[in-house]
Amino acid sequence: MNGVVLISGGGSNLQSIIDNVSAIDLNIICVISSNADAYGLKRAEKAGIPIAVVDHQLFDSRLTADKKIMKVIDDAKVEVIILAGYMRILSPEFIDKYLGKILNIHPSLLPKFKGLNTHQRAIDAAEKIHGASVHFVTEELDGGPVIAQRSVEIDSIDNAKSLASKVLKKEHDLYPKIIHWYTQGRIKLIGNNNVQLDGQII
Ligand code: GAR
Repeated sequence: MNGVVLISGGGSNLQSIIDNVSAIDLNIICVISSNADAYGLKRAEKAGIPIAVVDHQLFDSRLTADKKIMKVIDDAKVEVIILAGYMRILSPEFIDKYLGKILNIHPSLLPKFKGLNTHQRAIDAAEKIHGASVHFVTEELDGGPVIAQRSVEIDSIDNAKSLASKVLKKEHDLYPKIIHWYTQGRIKLIGNNNVQLDGQII
């Protein structure tokens, strides 16, 4: 299945996807970054994957920037849009057009800790368990239905950095597996709020 991966930073999730592309039946036709300095672009180049940069600051609106991404997607018959540390909010037009085809990984056990600084916020809230979620993207920020989650324990010695690295390890294992479910046609977004896995709402 043809896919694009959208990134903004280090791209360790992108790397875990690249390392598994053949096992998960994914053909990454392009890695698109919102940030020209993202290390993830180097990872893509090393893997021989075409790259593009769409820096929203250089466009007059969110939609104009998103239209650049839409063009890449439409020209290449992309069937899945994989957000992997993509730190921009997508326009409603973008989300409407590809509803059910956009996956995101978020570093918390959604619906807890939507938004930024999730690890510090989990520590501050004295949570014992934290983790990562893969979900379909809908117009509600970090609010689309969850497909799968992985958890980690928060130890008393954890800080935001150590917790982020524990959660990232889980992300690297989880995300390729869920992308594979998608490329196999096992998961579907039903309406705005439900996920179907193997024909059953989960
Ligand atoms: C990951 O922890 C991902 O879950 C998070 O950014 C990090 C990217 O790391 N995404 C978000 O916060 C999206 N709102 P990576 O660039 O090394 O994959």
